[in-house]
Amino acid sequence: MCGIIGFVGRESAAPILLDGLARMEYRGYDSAGVAVRSESRGLQVRKSKGRLQILSDMIHGGADLDGTLGIGHTRWATHGEPNDINAHPHVSENGTIALVHNGIIENYLEIKEHLQKLGVSFASDTDSEVVAQLLEYHYNECHNMLEAVGRCLRRIEGSYAFGIICADYPNALIAARKDSPLILGYGKNGNFIASDVTAVIKYTRDVVYMDDGEIAVLTADSIDVFDDELVPVEKQHHLVDWDVSAAEKGGYPHFMFKEIMEQPEAIRKTISPRIRDGRVVLDDICLTCEEARSISRIFITACGSSYHVGMVSKYNWERLLRRPVEVCLASEFRYSDPLVDDHTLVIVISQSGETLDTMAAMREAKRRGGRTLAIVNVVGSSIVREADDVLYTWAGPEIAVATTKAYSTQLALMDLVGLYLAEKLGSVEQGEYDAIVAEMERLPEKMQAWLGDIGDVQYFASRYFNHDSIFFIGRNLDYAMGLEGSLKLKEISYIHSEAYASGELKHGTISLIEPGTLVVALGTYAPLFDKFISNVVEVKARGAEVMALTTESFCRKMEKTADATLAVPETHPILQPSLGVVPLQLFAYYVALQRGCDIDKPRNLAKSVTVE
Ligand code: AGP
Repeated sequence: MCGIIGFVGRESAAPILLDGLARMEYRGYDSAGVAVRSESRGLQVRKSKGRLQILSDMIHGGADLDGTLGIGHTRWATHGEPNDINAHPHVSENGTIALVHNGIIENYLEIKEHLQKLGVSFASDTDSEVVAQLLEYHYNECHNMLEAVGRCLRRIEGSYAFGIICADYPNALIAARKDSPLILGYGKNGNFIASDVTAVIKYTRDVVYMDDGEIAVLTADSIDVFDDELVPVEKQHHLVDWDVSAAEKGGYPHFMFKEIMEQPEAIRKTISPRIRDGRVVLDDICLTCEEARSISRIFITACGSSYHVGMVSKYNWERLLRRPVEVCLASEFRYSDPLVDDHTLVIVISQSGETLDTMAAMREAKRRGGRTLAIVNVVGSSIVREADDVLYTWAGPEIAVATTKAYSTQLALMDLVGLYLAEKLGSVEQGEYDAIVAEMERLPEKMQAWLGDIGDVQYFASRYFNHDSIFFIGRNLDYAMGLEGSLKLKEISYIHSEAYASGELKHGTISLIEPGTLVVALGTYAPLFDKFISNVVEVKARGAEVMALTTESFCRKMEKTADATLAVPETHPILQPSLGVVPLQLFAYYVALQRGCDIDKPRNLAKSVTVE
């Protein structure tokens, strides 16, 4: 959840570290810190509770710290409250070693107690400081930093990406990884480590993805990578194919708004190369018709919004494939003794490719013999490296914590995979297949046109932003879409919100509807439009204020019943959530804006959740 960066080179390190941290602040933002080594002043450590800006102001944008070797960290607290002392970097007792960490050290207490018995005193409550102290202990034993890191890693359990500097090694930065992302960047004026490519893209596109168990030693002119036995390994270089502007706001007020607006293009990039002559072609998967037919069960597992994509896909895939499709929260899947065998296809969906629960669910599925297909946005991420098959969503970097374009591209890609499997199974009629593919190709254009006129959403948000509890109701695909609309709203505006299958309301929840309660009624799925009207009437009768979302052709009918109506263009019914979710994202955005919330960095959250 935290972001780490390191630099060693021929330029002042501190401003580079701050710039990199600013680009990764979405990973965690409750405290930040840097350590820079200089010839004259040794290790200089500065850290502060709160946003990165506080640290940056404290060290005058980095000008206060001289030195060309350093590490930095932006934190999402796990062990120890967010305060100055628990902020990283952590420094060993004698002040020679500084370390930044992303991950969790599971056996930290045991090591801490052992070191305490040896007389080591600790400054913080964190698991990470334990590693700094343990490193010093091993370094004192062997007087070789690489060897000390190797010994240390053999003793710790858990997940980590480390950046380490040592006062005795003025020109070297050491990195190590296990189950937490870490990349190495080859720059002109020096080399980098970072949790995310976005932190270094301004300086280099030439990167290497570290693998679990690897240790890297960086100098200004070289990077050497070793395995866990300290044997050198050759690494493959990757050229990042997007540039720095993709990870910048580019004049938009928030990343979230920019990313909403980028959705048509992101969907186009994700689907266009995979539709050829009216057929879905997934070159990256090699699945024969026979293999497809041998699949008896399909699981979709993911967290948060990616899970909501799974909810939509369940409806669509069962329709297309006539096979049972189960959607399971990744955090539940691994502990549910899932019925996975070698006839099971397990789809894992993750924007970041680093979500720990999703990763663990995938490993569990593999362990039981299932075939795994990962739908991921971040190239080279951990899930990618372990899945049997991978399909990328080409959404580009997503910075806002609340996902929008990643959700949309996941949804579009899942629709493509559904069609691909349906063709292999012969479970969909040709006319239906052609109609869906044709409509998929039109999606970006329809979304683009709709985004050209968003005044109504803005107006309704200004009318309703003061509500303190909002219900989203819908049936079938509209229910699945409502889950995402509700999550979007609550995560960035902090308004309590729930999504319900409309038919379920009268089994309990309707007791919460009282005069003035805002109900966002979703009725974009044409086959169930009449049922939708009945449910709206039902809540209206209890005094609810209803904001309806429907399609252009049902809009007129709806206007007579609802208090406010939004409409999206028509598409094939199974694709309707792709268009319907956009007003819900914008509604959440404008409500949060009206309430003065920190839209891109909502409280308590982090973009990628690498803890359980
Ligand atoms: C959605 O806006 C959230 N940021 C969150 O629910 C997210 O979708 C979830 O944490 C899963 O992340 P992933 O797609 O990177 O695995």
